[in-house]
Amino acid sequence: MKRPPHPVMALGAAALAALLTSAASAQPADPVAGRRLANRWCTSCHVVDSGKGGTDAVPTLASIARDPNRGPNWVRQWLTSPHPPMPDLNLSRNEIEDVVAYLQSLAR
Ligand code: HEC
Repeated sequence: MKRPPHPVMALGAAALAALLTSAASAQPADPVAGRRLANRWCTSCHVVDSGKGGTDAVPTLASIARDPNRGPNWVRQWLTSPHPPMPDLNLSRNEIEDVVAYLQSLAR
């Protein structure tokens, strides 16, 4: 008689399937999605689109984008593990790539 798979095994298979699906659906970095993310997650502290949101204590995203010392790799690193007072927003790797692409579009 065939027994149903152990529930833990079934869970593992589901997790693996989810992982494979997410890897397969990895999108190229999308600055439009990045802008949407920034407007959603960054405006409480940073000015994102001119005049919207932000506080005086925090650099605007446009000024960060134009800072030659704040290139894509630096920003990627920062968003992966920000330092206080900025909280870790727990962005996914795709989300970080989108935000970085958005910042690059601002720098041009
Ligand atoms: C809860 C407030 C808050 C949110 C939300 C927030 N930040 Fe920040 N961020 C800060 C603060 C405060 C600093 C300044 C840290 C410092 O001076 O050390 C900062 C610094 C940064 C820096 C480094 C600037 C530099 O030149 O050192 C980057 C890049 C950045 N934020 C990007 C983002 C992005 C992108 C988002 C949205 C996805 C975001 N932040 C959301 C508060 C926030």
